[in-house]
Amino acid sequence: MTQGKEGAALDLKSARILIAGAASLVGSHTAEALLAAGIKEVVLLDNFAFGTPEAIAHLKDDPRVRIVKGDLMRLPDLLAATQGMDGVLHLAAYMTLGFAQSPWEAVDVNLRGAQNMLEACRANKVKKVVFASSNAVYGYGPGIKGALVEDGPFHSAGAPAAAILYGASKIMGEQLCRQYFQKHKLDYVVLRYSTVYGERQHYRAANSLYIMETYDRVRRGERPVLPGDGSDTKHFVNVADVAQANLAAFRSAATDVAVNVSGPEPITTGELVRMVLDYCGSKLQPEIKPDPPGTVRLTSGGAFHIPHDLAGKLIGWQPKIGMKEGIARLLAWREAGLAKQKEAK
Ligand SMILES: NC(=O)c1ccc[n+]([C@@H]2O[C@H](COP(=O)([O-])OP(=O)(O)OC[C@H]3O[C@@H](n4cnc5c(N)ncnc54)[C@H](O)[C@@H]3O)[C@@H](O)[C@H]2O)c1
Repeated sequence: MTQGKEGAALDLKSARILIAGAASLVGSHTAEALLAAGIKEVVLLDNFAFGTPEAIAHLKDDPRVRIVKGDLMRLPDLLAATQGMDGVLHLAAYMTLGFAQSPWEAVDVNLRGAQNMLEACRANKVKKVVFASSNAVYGYGPGIKGALVEDGPFHSAGAPAAAILYGASKIMGEQLCRQYFQKHKLDYVVLRYSTVYGERQHYRAANSLYIMETYDRVRRGERPVLPGDGSDTKHFVNVADVAQANLAAFRSAATDVAVNVSGPEPITTGELVRMVLDYCGSKLQPEIKPDPPGTVRLTSGGAFHIPHDLAGKLIGWQPKIGMKEGIARLLAWREAGLAKQKEAK
């Protein structure tokens, strides 16, 4: 029973789900979670623009998995791929760094690509769409402090252009979902992920990139860099928790809602660096150094946190993985990858 509007609730054991933008961090973990939950069929669509076949190679022999090379910018690809699907998880998008590097492609994929997908879902009577949004819809800069709740405003003053463009593109995506619900009764749940981190981490998200950069420096014996005094807040969410949130959104009857999907607690950059140093057993001291020119840094105006109570109420989801455990998992994965590379040389 949901406390909001009632829409389609999918029984995963009899459902067919398409993941758009599947060959990457969130998509590969969600596909694993769907398979573990007994899904009937999962279609993994990607144009491999920056995701890789390797990210989903371990899933390809499961008879319930179908890998489709398709592009969000090509409506015929989406019309074909969504045929017979009960649910669509829409992930494919450019993030802040993508908006900084390739703004043309980013605008195309995040706006027209999302619209193409919704249109294909409408045409093929898909029962439910789960749309990956972001805490970027609250913006960045001095206005960001305290609790970032779902009905809060978008702060753009003092934020980098690419971050504003990304946040605005997610607001557009959310509202396109809402319009398809109002006009065509297409059920949807928007999940506003906070910064996602975990195994199969990539280098495209500005904040999680910081964990990887810090780890890579410590491993090389270099001091980790703090861009400020270490009090800057971040609120991460582990990718395994995100995957479970995606499943919860399909299973629940909730529709026409947007909820935060964040980790158990926020962390400061100082604490984060300390955790990485502890994991590595390193005695190196962080060095305070301003960012080099051109760095896209996502700052806030003070301590903030992203409550996930509404996700608990509406889709019955709560995060389980704290930062210490999540960082240990991520860095163990990175360590194993580096060891493999060394072996292959
Ligand atoms: N990673 C994060 O920290 C984070 C935080 C908040 C929200 N999100 C959102 O979650 C979603 C998934 O995140 P991720 O880190 O797994 O994403 P990602 O950057 O790895 O991208 C997902 C996939 O989309 C594919 N793609 C790009 N353009 C495409 C197109 N035109 N057609 C088909 N596929 C295309 C890419 O090849 C990639 O495999 C994104 O929508 C992102 O905005 C991510």
